[in-house]
Amino acid sequence: MIQFQEETAADAFFWNNSLVPPDTQKTRFENFNLKGLSDSQQDAFRKLKWYAENFGNWGDFDSLLLQGNYGIGKSHLSHSVAQHVKSLRKNVIFANTKMLLRKIRNSYGDSKETEAHILKNIESCELLVLDDLGAEYVRKDKDGEESWAADLILTIIESREDKPNIITTNYNVESLQSKYGTHGGRIISRMMPGTRVVKFTGEDRRIKGGGNSAWNQG
Ligand SMILES: Nc1ncnc2c1ncn2[C@@H]1O[C@H](COP(=O)(O)OP(=O)(O)OP(=O)(O)O)[C@@H](O)[C@H]1O
Ligand SMILES: [Mg+2]
Repeated sequence: MIQFQEETAADAFFWNNSLVPPDTQKTRFENFNLKGLSDSQQDAFRKLKWYAENFGNWGDFDSLLLQGNYGIGKSHLSHSVAQHVKSLRKNVIFANTKMLLRKIRNSYGDSKETEAHILKNIESCELLVLDDLGAEYVRKDKDGEESWAADLILTIIESREDKPNIITTNYNVESLQSKYGTHGGRIISRMMPGTRVVKFTGEDRRIKGGGNSAWNQG
């Protein structure tokens, strides 16, 4: 029997504001397969599930930084948290960083979806997942400063100080800092307080094949 679930305000907020890469849209804790994973991946799964199930009752931190190589489940797990927290009827945004910067760039000259409107929702939401930080292309200007994108990332991070965030990245903190040039130090210094780092490694699921295809279930 097909069951229709009523769309909540939290569902609408999520879908209106989120930018989820296609291979992440169907990811949930329930379809994260633990078989054959490294210890650090299994540990990351447990930590992320705990974070979701204890939303707001974490103790002395409120944010997570997921670090690791490609294709190991960072987006899968952080999107699973987002879905769980949305089901608690909280306003959540999952934004792939590259897609978000493109959306903001395209909003210039658009009277309906303004940059201010996009940034206001990012600032106000109860959980922000900023996915794949550092993978966006940051052009250096003539002084070597990575201006526009770094400026926006700083604005976003500043607006989310003391609020729950999950950031996923392939970079370590030092590399992120140097990527954002003169803004790097500021971004990191605002990002790290209250943040627990979840570092993990594993086989690249995209190369190995797998994902959520029926072939690899079980
Ligand atoms: N343990 C797992 N069980 C089922 N599917 C998985 C698992 N790990 C990863 N996947 C799938 O593999 C693909 C790649 O995983 P994911 O996007 O989470 O990687 P990532 O760590 O975010 O990589 P990147 O650094 O390139 O963004 C996704 O389609 C994801 O759903
Ligand atoms: Mg990812």
